[in-house]
Amino acid sequence: MIQLIDVHKSYTKEHETIKGVSFEVHEGQIFGLLGPNGAGKTTLMQMIATLMKPTSGQILIDGLSADKALLEIHRKIGFLTNEIKLDPLSTPNALYDFFANLYDIPKDELKDRRDESFARFGISPFAEKRINELSTGMKQKISIAISLIHNPPVIIFDEPTNGLDILTSKQVTDYLKELRDKGHAIILSTHIFSVAEELCDDIAVLIDGSIVAQGSVDMLIEQAQVNTFEEAFFKIYVENHKE
Ligand SMILES: Nc1ncnc2c1ncn2[C@@H]1O[C@H](COP(=O)(O)OP(=O)(O)O)[C@@H](O)[C@H]1O
Ligand SMILES: [Mg+2]
Repeated sequence: MIQLIDVHKSYTKEHETIKGVSFEVHEGQIFGLLGPNGAGKTTLMQMIATLMKPTSGQILIDGLSADKALLEIHRKIGFLTNEIKLDPLSTPNALYDFFANLYDIPKDELKDRRDESFARFGISPFAEKRINELSTGMKQKISIAISLIHNPPVIIFDEPTNGLDILTSKQVTDYLKELRDKGHAIILSTHIFSVAEELCDDIAVLIDGSIVAQGSVDMLIEQAQVNTFEEAFFKIYVENHKE
């Protein structure tokens, strides 16, 4: 569903931020990009979500490239990032209506979908409150509900549990597992190895713009010849971090 082929990205002439990244994410799979701050996770996620073009290389969503099929891709992807801010003076209900309209969601479907997703995340009691009166966790849950409003087969979540308390974080990770089991292709980024360990079927460790190790939790532990995923991650990090 998601295919990256030798993707490079340079913001400036002097420095290459993404140095040739290739991987595939399939239906019914959670793929994790795990790496420290500054590794290039957000850069990669924004390119996959078509917000930015690679300097070279190819990104395909369900076989389609953004040069030729941008709108079609937008209907297939749900994107969540910390950098997209909800209008502080709007309300969850108003935002939901706005995005439902943008995605042409039929009126009869809209109510059921809103009820389901607001109930799941406990948004209903806050549906008419202004965004700027809500907690960080509640805003994140509203962002998630809105990013998935069109039930996209491809889900691109940049650090989805960042800044959330453990209960909210668990609601989000449980939801992602449910979506995986329904057959969605999910890519998420995180700098927290325990999030990757719990959720991801396949993990790519990204350091300084390159994937330095990739595999399941068990494979990464075995390759590093250690006993836990935490040890594996730190070993991989120490061996590959240069700057
Ligand atoms: N718009 C930009 N212009 C120039 N450099 C950027 C820009 N966005 C990110 N960078 C740089 O690219 C590198 C990777 O950043 P980022 O993709 O945000 O990493 P991560 O999400 O893994 O923390 C960092 O060195 C960052 O400073
Ligand atoms: Mg980031």
